[in-house]
Amino acid sequence: MPPKDRNQRLNKLGVWTFLVSIAFGGLAFGQARDSRAGLPHLEKRGSATQLVVDGKPFLVLGGELHNSSSSSVEYMKPIWPRLAGMHLNTVLLPVAWETIEPEEGKFDFRVVDGLLEGARENNLKLVVLWFGAWKNTYSSYVPAWVKTNTERFPRVQTSDGRGTERLSPFSTVVRDADARAFAQLMRHLREADGDKHTVMMVQVENEVGVIPESRDHSSVANAAFAATVPSTLTNFLEKHRTALDPEFRAAWEAAGGKTAGTWQEVFGKVPLTDDLFMAWHYATYIEHVAAAGKAEYPIPMFANAALIRPNYEPGQYNSGGPLPHSIDVWHAGAPSLDLLSPDIYFNEFAYWAGKYARPDNPLFIPEAQGGSPGAANALYAFGHLSAIGFSPFGIEDQGNVPLDLVGITSERLDHSAIGNAYSVLSELTPMILQKQETGGITAALIEGDAQRSARLYLGDYTAIMTRAGGASTAGSRLAAMFIQTGPSEFIVAGSGDAQITFSTDKPGPPIVGIDSIDEEFFENGAWLPRRRLNGDENSQGQALKISAADLAQGKIYRVRLYRHR
Ligand code: DGJ
Repeated sequence: MPPKDRNQRLNKLGVWTFLVSIAFGGLAFGQARDSRAGLPHLEKRGSATQLVVDGKPFLVLGGELHNSSSSSVEYMKPIWPRLAGMHLNTVLLPVAWETIEPEEGKFDFRVVDGLLEGARENNLKLVVLWFGAWKNTYSSYVPAWVKTNTERFPRVQTSDGRGTERLSPFSTVVRDADARAFAQLMRHLREADGDKHTVMMVQVENEVGVIPESRDHSSVANAAFAATVPSTLTNFLEKHRTALDPEFRAAWEAAGGKTAGTWQEVFGKVPLTDDLFMAWHYATYIEHVAAAGKAEYPIPMFANAALIRPNYEPGQYNSGGPLPHSIDVWHAGAPSLDLLSPDIYFNEFAYWAGKYARPDNPLFIPEAQGGSPGAANALYAFGHLSAIGFSPFGIEDQGNVPLDLVGITSERLDHSAIGNAYSVLSELTPMILQKQETGGITAALIEGDAQRSARLYLGDYTAIMTRAGGASTAGSRLAAMFIQTGPSEFIVAGSGDAQITFSTDKPGPPIVGIDSIDEEFFENGAWLPRRRLNGDENSQGQALKISAADLAQGKIYRVRLYRHR
């Protein structure tokens, strides 16, 4: 959806939230009116769209649990404080359909309540992942009464007529049962958390799509495939033609750019058409589920995508998921979703993250690599792409690696790369959020064996970041985030061994010099300068050097530049 429409939708959500608050005022909530008006929501703020919680923008320094951890409140007990110790502010965790509706129509929210309590006791927020009909294309998390009744709850069929372990998105019976359960969950969250906002967002299903064939071949699906493309979709594409994903637009136009006809007439007799067809049907199914949930409790919702390996065809990858080339189809089919998200485990982080950071789709990354690659990626996502949140997967495995830090003693260190990055990011958060809104923040990322440098632009200045350390560091991932604090002053947080030089192409004095570089540490509620770096530490005034140990030491730099002839 192009920016204007999406913004209107964001604004409408505010109006709607207000109207619902009036309708529900004095019912379920004692002070429902106020708490509803203050629900977590996405808000366009300056040049960014941010998550707003309790009236304030919120930067999600998150981590996603392994799939089974949150099925047990007991199992989670020792994990919560570890995550808090890693400076996370948010945990992404699954809530499964089988957990809350073990018997049809009988709901059990004891696990959900235990998770809310565990999070709150540790001052953590939550993003709930609804493992409803699908998790990684499969239907393993549905209750037994759904799983075992394939007559009532039909499955995706193969082209040779076999059933699969996937419920069919073409079944309205599946859809309505899923939506009923999800609505009950959202109703419960409203009742149990509507005034506390522990849960800030909800992911609806997980990595949907079909494999190994590119579409469902059930008779209902075949009929839908032979029918004309719904006008809701073609009208949307026509209206937003110039703002569509370029890859998608090129494929559509290569097939003739038609606005009426069957799926193969409009999009061509190519494998991608099966993917787009499934994307539409997953999106409209999820729209139904998300809308039922939002009718109970309208907090932000999203869907996530498993990405595509090079040269994979639909069916080799999850055909129908919210991929870059089908973001527009999903926007048309699922307007109740606030954003679509990539799960980025691949090395080309900048490419994939960039595909999802669109004016009509704020970037939120629910799953990503952790470790030091994750730390660098987080700096880039928040600094360059105004991300709402970042969240390495399997977060409970990341912390507590002992690390000796000579000369530095700080209770704030948790000794994992993500924990160290989040420690620094949590102190920079107010500045990051403000600059995402007003401008004055950027970041550079060096990734891949071949890449040796990256360029970034900061007001009057251009910076070039180059790998340091020669061959031994080839292939490592480095990032630097720059926050502008004055016309010629910047706070820099870095991850990796690099040196950064400065120049300008703006009118005025052409030479850029380094006035000063101070290393700063966060102490007693403020960033305090320690050493003034000069000489060997800044290449005799020629460069800012960042190091792989910086985040572990809780260190940032304050750099002042000047221009001369
Ligand atoms: C992606 C899925 O969304 C997660 O639930 C989990 O299965 C990870 N893959 C495992 O790497």
